[in-house]
Amino acid sequence: MKDRIVTGMRSTGKLHLGHYLGVIQNLVKLQKEYECFFFVADWHALTTKYDKTENLKQDVTDVVIDWLACGIDPDIATIYVQSLVPEIAELNVYLSMLTPQNWVERDPCLKDMAKILRTKQGANSQISYGLMGYPVLMSADIMMFNATAIPVGIDQVAHIEITRDIVRRFNNIYKTDFFKEPKPLLNNCSLICGLDGNKMGKSFQNDIKISDTEEVTAKKMMSAITDRSRMHKDDPGHPENCEVAFKYWKIFGNEEQVKIVKCECEKGLRGCADCKRQLGKVINEKFSPIREKRRYYEEHPQEVDKIIIQGSEKARVEARKILSDVRNIIGMY
Ligand code: TRP
Repeated sequence: MKDRIVTGMRSTGKLHLGHYLGVIQNLVKLQKEYECFFFVADWHALTTKYDKTENLKQDVTDVVIDWLACGIDPDIATIYVQSLVPEIAELNVYLSMLTPQNWVERDPCLKDMAKILRTKQGANSQISYGLMGYPVLMSADIMMFNATAIPVGIDQVAHIEITRDIVRRFNNIYKTDFFKEPKPLLNNCSLICGLDGNKMGKSFQNDIKISDTEEVTAKKMMSAITDRSRMHKDDPGHPENCEVAFKYWKIFGNEEQVKIVKCECEKGLRGCADCKRQLGKVINEKFSPIREKRRYYEEHPQEVDKIIIQGSEKARVEARKILSDVRNIIGMY
């Protein structure tokens, strides 16, 4: 029996290279070693976007298409949409009954979100009851499949801690060892910065999307920050002070290319514009097969739909089993 992992991604629409390098690439590897449940967290998206639902469906399909294009294989991993597995909502009810209020109040991510909401909506902005319950819902996501390992970024570790607390509390209260304590599965990948040198993010408009065309990628690449102290293209450059381009080379170039870039830059033989043009080509080459596969799925939406529906059905079969046990353990009718 393989260990079981669950991980979710908020439905935020088309994904960027940061998602690819930081998460998806890892999931593609993990699907061979574990029994995998990968889902699009559309309820989590609703916690903050309950009033902006025009693109909700498209956002979900865009995530799934990116996953498929990058190599997540629906024949191996179970791909599903959170809201298509309503058993999660029922489990969320049971868990919310036994979770002390101050456990969710101390959640650091929630505090950050509250701060962001306040800057966006003013001092009177309110956290909704649903957003408050986010850590419990996330625990339900994980416990619904009694997963033991959760691939997440470092920012999500606090949530897994709460899940472990909730697991222990459930097992204690109902005198059982039914739920297993999940562990975060951290990915030691290199983080990619955005084109402006800050963290890559959709809302910062500094990202390159997996789905961007070659032209858009090339154009975006030209806007990347380089060595700010370099004025002329034949000035000697400082690759280690190059804020974006050289970092990208180290991620996307091979050893030989990185050596040449470094050497030419330091000798003033390579202008930043040329360097970025070449880099754009390298990135486009790398993503060409992924983008081709992506176009295929975009042109075959019924196939994507079928994958989502079948995956969600498969997830539900498992969820129903667990939920039936949970109802018994609690003593429901
Ligand atoms: N909270 C996660 C994020 O914002 C997404 C998520 C929701 C998740 N439920 C999960 C991740 C369960 C792992 C397991 O990135």
